[in-house]
Amino acid sequence: MINIKISEFKELTAYMKKNYGINLTEKKVLIEGRLSNMIMEKGFSNFSDYLKFVFKDTSGNEISILINKLTTNHTYFMREADHFKYFRDTVVPYLEENSKNKDLRIWSAGCSSGEEPYTLAMIIKDYFGNQKDMWNTKILATDISKKVLDEAKNGVYSGEAVNTIPKYWLLNYFNKIDGENYEICEEIRNEIIYRDFNLMTEIFPFKKKFHVIFCRNVMIYFEPKTKVELINKFYDITEPGGYLFIGHSESIDKNETKYDYIMPAVYRKG
Ligand SMILES: C[S@@+](CC[C@H](N)C(=O)[O-])C[C@H]1O[C@@H](n2cnc3c(N)ncnc32)[C@H](O)[C@@H]1O
Repeated sequence: MINIKISEFKELTAYMKKNYGINLTEKKVLIEGRLSNMIMEKGFSNFSDYLKFVFKDTSGNEISILINKLTTNHTYFMREADHFKYFRDTVVPYLEENSKNKDLRIWSAGCSSGEEPYTLAMIIKDYFGNQKDMWNTKILATDISKKVLDEAKNGVYSGEAVNTIPKYWLLNYFNKIDGENYEICEEIRNEIIYRDFNLMTEIFPFKKKFHVIFCRNVMIYFEPKTKVELINKFYDITEPGGYLFIGHSESIDKNETKYDYIMPAVYRKG
């Protein structure tokens, strides 16, 4: 194990906060635990030399590896399941009724390994059934970790990981690929557009506003100011009548947002 010096710790945590919003100032042990072996494998004996090497690497590969290591990507199917129920029973019917062009624009921001966007796609497929082809319901799913984006695109989950989803989803939307693993079917996979995207990007580059944004369990690692700024940016790119879903532990102070509170961790643009 390589111990990180205070100056190195300050440099790395400042970099992560400034560029990705992630606050690791209380996470010395986590940083040492996640990076030490890799730093040694790369032939360095201290954090300073490793960080110099990362910041000099113009290919972006080393930053990418660092981000893969320092992001927390824990997720699972049916996480905060009441959100999916509300999405199915209230949000999608509202959007169907009020859509002008039969397009639903949904963004899973901080999608990790794909469980959240695939769940949304399965709900939409169930809802529209054989009318689905008449709708454009592609879901944008973004993350800063290329590692989890690759896992998401791969769409392979263990039997244990899919344990909590309805059995008919397993039958209809997954293929069993060996004794243990399930692969999301082509039809659902094609509903998701995966992109590497940093939520700290100053001006969001989207041409059209979203009807629904899921950004759950991402802002827990952000400072309050960063979180408020991000929520304001989400607000600006939400369609009127559209929804924002955040994680249950990430509530927004009502004085700090123009969104209306709907239910725990669900907000709406009036
Ligand atoms: C804990 S996972 C949440 C996954 C899923 N939304 C859920 O609720 O289970 C948080 C994800 O946010 C991503 N993330 C953290 N900071 C980010 C940023 N600045 N831009 C984009 N994604 C970020 C991480 O890489 C990680 O995969």
